[in-house]
Amino acid sequence: MNYQIAVLGGDGIGPEITECAVAVLKKTAEKSGISLQFTPYLIGGCAIDAVGVPLPEETVQGCLASDSVLLGAVGGPKWDGLSGSQRPEAALLGIRSALGLYTNLRPAKLFPALRGASPLREEIVGAGFDILIVRELTGGIYFGDRGYRNGKYGEEAFDTEAYSITEIERIGRAAFEAAMKRSRRLTSVDKANVLETSRLWRKIMHQLSAEYPAVQYNDLFVDNAAMQLVRNPKQFDVIVTSNMFGDILSDEASQITGSIGMLASASLGSGTRGMYEPIHGSAPDIAGQNRANPIAAILSGAMMLRYSFGLSAEADCIEQAVDRVLEQGYRTADLIGSTDAVPIGCREMADRILHAL
Ligand code: IPM
Ligand code: MG
Repeated sequence: MNYQIAVLGGDGIGPEITECAVAVLKKTAEKSGISLQFTPYLIGGCAIDAVGVPLPEETVQGCLASDSVLLGAVGGPKWDGLSGSQRPEAALLGIRSALGLYTNLRPAKLFPALRGASPLREEIVGAGFDILIVRELTGGIYFGDRGYRNGKYGEEAFDTEAYSITEIERIGRAAFEAAMKRSRRLTSVDKANVLETSRLWRKIMHQLSAEYPAVQYNDLFVDNAAMQLVRNPKQFDVIVTSNMFGDILSDEASQITGSIGMLASASLGSGTRGMYEPIHGSAPDIAGQNRANPIAAILSGAMMLRYSFGLSAEADCIEQAVDRVLEQGYRTADLIGSTDAVPIGCREMADRILHAL
């Protein structure tokens, strides 16, 4: 087997964590006799600096010609003054959309070794939790009409949210299918007491629920869901929600696993090509200092093996290696919550994981 992988390191800590993920994927490939080819492309602020646009056409074409995409992070203070469509973040939304990646899987699982790093009390965490957030990724308010206009109080800015039945149905189906492969519980999160898009969302989810009688289904309003996540995270298995609510709730879910530096993600469309990226940002304040946590990027690589290439055993191996290194007490700076932890840098963490493989 031979796979082409486009590598989009991006900005800030993006390149250093992506390098770690590539090293882990290379070692895994060596061990299991598959061949992976990595080709770097520009995205975000580094692309603006090099060629003047955040998402060069060459990057889009390179990703379309690849079997999968590994992404680091984009953005930083250097490009904060740019207008909306010129910003590094526009490239991230643009590439998700160009590749048709409407399903974003964000697993928030507490590694047993990190129980002490979770801000939640031990009795709430209990034996741990394992939540899968399914975020709609190419619709909603992040992609709606926006701009400036004259309003009641003079000039105003506006953003709009739209969701079609087709968009809701396909993300809903992805979530029900994911729930079928797990403990068959699905919570749909919306704001149907206020938003029209949420009322349509809920109606479609209920229709799908009738097709999946084996899945225990419930609805929650997003404000309640945000509260329930810290009150009792163990009640959740799969959560499906819109682009913006998923963006917000996944950051919250990540922190209760110990650190946002732990959460990987897979963005999928209708085919096998996916884009795999940590959910954290470019952390420009610690870039280039060997302080970043590479685990989210490394686990994103594992998700690529699992979801795009069907290599579940290899993905398991990487996850177990991460688990072992954490059990040994090694921690990057973001995870130092407990007293007996051994603090190490980004590169050392990757080396430990490579060794544990
Ligand atoms: C994420 C990020 C992005 C998003 C930003 C950087 C555009 O926060 O992947 O969660 O909102 O999708
Ligand atoms: Mg986010």
